[in-house]
Amino acid sequence: MLGRVNHIAIAVPDLARATASYRDTLGAKVSQAQALPEHGVTVVFVELPNTKVELLEPLGAGSPIAAFLARNPDGGMHHICYEVDDILVARDQLIEAGARVLGSGDPKVGAHGKPVLFLHPKDFHGTLIELEQV
Ligand code: CO
Repeated sequence: MLGRVNHIAIAVPDLARATASYRDTLGAKVSQAQALPEHGVTVVFVELPNTKVELLEPLGAGSPIAAFLARNPDGGMHHICYEVDDILVARDQLIEAGARVLGSGDPKVGAHGKPVLFLHPKDFHGTLIELEQV
């Protein structure tokens, strides 16, 4: 079911600072900040040769990463995103296997304009998993 790692996401309290540390200290190529109101986050992508790192800052009230940052005030690894060929087939297979899909269960359009879903971290060893159809 799983393809490549599309990105690893890190929740940060200060996106400008995090962007600067990846760009200036680590010398990485970083994208412009992109507001995703439907997901309650602003994102910056760090482009690496084999994958991307997604820096996430809360956007608006009730951001889904607000509670995570309350528990991890310095920031921390938030989720890992795997690519799948067909997100609806993957979802139905996972539900059949007893895994929980977060939210309505219908894919939302993610940061790359592709459909995404999130799987409950308690079903996957404490790690929030994002699936992205490529
Ligand atoms: Co993501």
